Amino acid sequence: MNHTDRPIKRAMSSFTSSTVEIPEVRRVPRHIAIIMDGNGRWAKQRYLPRVAGHKRGVEAVRTAVRTCGERGVEYLTLFAFSSENWRRPPEEVSFLMQLFVVALEQEVEKLHENGVRFKMIGDPAPFEPKLRRLLREAEALTASNERLTLTIAANYGGRWDVMQAVRRMLHDRPELASGFGERDLAPYLSLSYAPEPDLFIRTGGEQRISNFVLWQLAYSELYFTETLWPDFDAACLDRAIVSYQQRERRFGRTSEQLPDEADLAPVRIEGMGGAG
Ligand code: FPP
Repeated sequence: MNHTDRPIKRAMSSFTSSTVEIPEVRRVPRHIAIIMDGNGRWAKQRYLPRVAGHKRGVEAVRTAVRTCGERGVEYLTLFAFSSENWRRPPEEVSFLMQLFVVALEQEVEKLHENGVRFKMIGDPAPFEPKLRRLLREAEALTASNERLTLTIAANYGGRWDVMQAVRRMLHDRPELASGFGERDLAPYLSLSYAPEPDLFIRTGGEQRISNFVLWQLAYSELYFTETLWPDFDAACLDRAIVSYQQRERRFGRTSEQLPDEADLAPVRIEGMGGAG
C-alpha cells in the first residue's frame, strides 16, 4: 500500500517511461486502466436506488478481471473511489465502503486461486480499520501471484499521487530539492510497479480523465463508451481492445519511423473474427 511515510527502495522501476524512452507495444494491451462510470444511471433507468447500480458494478468488475486474465492483459487498474467521491451523499459513501469490505471478504480467495495479485493505490488513512486490514491482507496474500495484477484505486487522485511522490522523494533524498528528474520521481509514484497504461477506458459516456492516473496516462490510448459500467461485459472489453489495436502508437515519432506491423504477434480475440 502507498503509506506516504514509508521509506522506499532506491532501485529504479524496471518499466519504461513513455516520455523518456519508447515503450514496447504489444497487440494486447499490457495494462488497461478503467473509470467505471454509470452505475447510478444504470440503477435510475430501472427505478432502483443508485446503490443497486454499484452492486451490479461489482459483477462487472468480476467479468473484467476474468476477461483480462483470459486475453493476456497483465495489469488492470480500476478507479473505485476518487479523493473527490467523499463529496457524495454520506449514505452512498458508506454503502460503497461496505461494498468494498464485502467484495474483499468474498473475492480475495478466488483472486488468489486464479493467480491474481491484488494491489491498492490511494490513501487508506480515512478508511475504517476493518477495510484497511482487509486491503493489507489481500495484498499480502496475493503478493507473489503473477498472472494478472489487479489494482484498485481507492481514495486516489492523480494530483495527490504526484504530490505524495514528490513529498516522499524529498523526504528520502533532500539533496534533490535543488533539482530532480523523472527517473528520480518514478519509484515514488503509486503505480511504480506497473508499466504505464496502454489503454484507458471510461464507461458511461463522459469524456474526461477525472483526476485518475494523470502522470501515467501521458501516452495511453483513450477509449470512451456510452455503455454504463454494469453493462460493460466481455464483448465490450474486446471492442475496446480491438479499437486499441487499430491505433498507431507513435510516441512523438512519424508514421514512417514505426516498426513494421508484422513484427507484432497477431492475437485472436474470440467472437471478434479478424480482429487480431
Ligand atoms: C461511478 O458511477 C462509480 C463509482 C464512483 C463507484 C465504482 C464502484 C464500483 C464499480 C463498485 C465495486 C468496486 C470494487 C472494486 C469492489 P456513478 O455512481 O458516478 O454513476 P453515474 O454517473 O451514473 O451517477
